Formats: sequence, structure tokens, C-alpha cells
Amino acid sequence: MGQQRIFWVIFGLFLFTTQWLYVISSNIATSSEETSDENTLTTNTELHNNNNNNNNNNNNSDLLSNEFLPFSNEISNEYFSGEQEEDGDHEWDLLIFTQQWPVTTCYHWREEDSTHACLLPDKKEFWTIHGVWPTKLGHMGPSFCNKTADFDLDQLDKIMTNLKTYWPTIDGEQKLGHFWAHEWLKHGTCAASLAQLDNELKYFTQGLEWREKFLMSNILGNAGIHPDSNNTVVALQNALVKSLGKNPSIHCIYDNKRDVSYLEEIRICLTKQFELTDCDGVPGDAVPIDYPGGTVITNCHISKPIHYPSNVPPLLREQEKKWEFPVVNTYKLLQFLMWFTL
Ligand SMILES: *[C@@H]1O[C@H](CO)[C@@H](O)[C@H](O)[C@H]1NC(C)=O
Ligand SMILES: *[C@@H]1O[C@H](CO)[C@@H](O)[C@H](O)[C@H]1NC(C)=O
Ligand SMILES: *[C@@H]1O[C@H](CO)[C@@H](O)[C@H](O)[C@H]1NC(C)=O
Repeated sequence: MGQQRIFWVIFGLFLFTTQWLYVISSNIATSSEETSDENTLTTNTELHNNNNNNNNNNNNSDLLSNEFLPFSNEISNEYFSGEQEEDGDHEWDLLIFTQQWPVTTCYHWREEDSTHACLLPDKKEFWTIHGVWPTKLGHMGPSFCNKTADFDLDQLDKIMTNLKTYWPTIDGEQKLGHFWAHEWLKHGTCAASLAQLDNELKYFTQGLEWREKFLMSNILGNAGIHPDSNNTVVALQNALVKSLGKNPSIHCIYDNKRDVSYLEEIRICLTKQFELTDCDGVPGDAVPIDYPGGTVITNCHISKPIHYPSNVPPLLREQEKKWEFPVVNTYKLLQFLMWFTL
């Protein structure tokens, strides 16, 4: 029974320490929040430029800076932020195929600025493609591998209807093709080192094929996960692994006005032979988190329910808006430990 007492003392100390670490990591969270605010600020500036210029040129030169605004979470904040690839190093190991939940994308986009409106697919349970991104393990990118490449919408004539349906621009304000141009120039030109993806038509057709093959609404639906539900990230992970047999990466955005995490994207990884592979080792905001029974790669809150919304939540714009990207660090780890221990 002496042992038992020691156990409880250690346990008490552990809890006490985690509470302190919690305070410390909250501070870390606050400071990284400031960093991401800076990012938001940058994109907003671009946005205003865009709005001022809206009436005249929708020019190629604008395209690069404005194209990714609706998806600023991917590009400016999480995935390929920061370091630019060194010229010449365009090597990559695998392809990330990303599907997004348009309701969340729309919500995020619309909340960012009061002028934003979005176009949602008509169908109810309908995931759309965000992109096909060649990625080097442990690195960001590569991206923009061919500086002289340009984007020719006409090359996609044959698959235009499908592209509009399955790879749509959620931001309804953009000129047709902006989103695809961005995806092609940034990611497609790098994927093009593979013969099967070495032109626009091949690249986008492959994305469409993968969507059909890895139909996200079915993968989740088969596990009883439908829109308008709340699920733990572990439940999502189990559903995905059951169907794919490989680790995906699961992405949320966190709305701290409502204190709700929304399911935003699910990324799956493929080899150069187009076989599914684990997304382990892919850089970005998602990190591997162990749970009893496996590992989940995510930026979502491990112990909180994740909302899979069926409708875009009503506007809450009057209040101070504050998007925050889930901070994955000690804080999350501790949350997990506490959840696991308690
Ligand atoms: C596109 O931008 C260039 C350089 O900024 C400008 O010379 C050209 O007139 C613009 N084209 C259109 C269609 O606005
Ligand atoms: C880059 O793009 C241009 C224009 O499409 C093309 O002619 C050229 O072959 C590409 N370069 C490489 C290295 O793929
Ligand atoms: C899911 O969570 C949201 C946000 O907390 C809540 O508004 C909603 O009622 C929940 N839905 C279900 C089906 O439990």
C-alpha cells in the first residue's frame, strides 16, 4: 500500500506539472497566434489591393498573389509557408491528394472578409478537390518548378465540366481558371517531372480520377460519418484507415469565436507509382499524435469533437474576427495526455 501512495503522489505531481505546462504552452500558443495574425494581415493587404483593382485588370500578374486567398490557410499559413525551395532542387517523394469540405472552406473564406461570397456545390454530401501536391519528405514543396511555364485554360476543354463540378473554386468571385492556374503553376509544374503528369490535361485528369477512386463522402459515410455530426479525430482516422489502409492527414480550422473545430481537409498520400502510402513524414501544420491504438496525423484538437457541418454557419461578423490555426505543440500533447490520463 506504500506503493499505492507513491503512485498517487506521482500522479498528483504529474497533474500539477501539466497544469503549469499548460499555462506556459498557452503563452506559446498566444505568441504563435500573433505570428499567424501577421500572416492574415499580409493576405488582407493583398486582398484590398485586389478589391481596388477588381474593376479593371484580372491579369496574369495578379493571379499569383491573389489566387490563393481563399485557401490562405493552406498556402500562407500552413502548408507551404516560409522557406522557398532552393532553385534547382525540384525533387519530390510523394503526392498529396487533398480533398476539401466545401462548407468549411466557404465558411472560412466568408468570415475572412465581409465582401467574400462563395459558391457551393448543389449536392449535399460532396467533397471537392483542392489539389495534387508533390512533396519531398521533411521539406516544404517543391513549388513553382518551371518559372517559364504558363497556364492555358484551353488545354482543359475536354474535362472542363468535370473540373467545374469536382474541382471548383469555392470563391465565387474569381475568374474561371484562376484556381487551376495557381494549382498548375505552383504544384503541377513540379508534378510534371513524372511522365504521367507532364501536362495540364494529365495532371488535372489524374486529380479527377483520384477523387472518384477515393470518394471521401463514401469513405466517411461507410463508417457512419455524415455531415452535421461531431466526431473525434480518432473516429475520422479509423474510418479512413479502414477504407484506405494508410494514414491520411486530417485538417481542421478552429473558430475561436464559437470555440468549434471544423473539419476542413483530408489529405491522402500516393507514391510515384500512384499507390497509396502513409502520409507520415509530410511536413506542415499536422503532426503525428499517438493515441491508444495508433497514430493520427492531424492539426485538429485530439480530444475535442470536430464538427462536420452540413451548412455554412450563420455570420458572426460583427464581433472581432479571429481565425486561429490549431496550435500543435506541447499544448496539444498535454491535452492529449490529460485526456488519456483522466
Ligand atoms: C496586365 O499587366 C500588364 C503589366 O502590369 C499590363 O501592361 C497589361 O496591360 C495588363 N493586361 C490587362 C489585360 O489588364
Ligand atoms: C517549362 O515550361 C515551358 C512552357 O510550357 C516548356 O516549354 C518547358 O519545356 C518547361 N520546362 C521544363 C523543364 O519542364
Ligand atoms: C455538434 O457540435 C456543434 C458545435 O458545438 C453543435 O452546435 C451541434 O449541435 C453538435 N451537433 C450534434 C449533432 O451533436
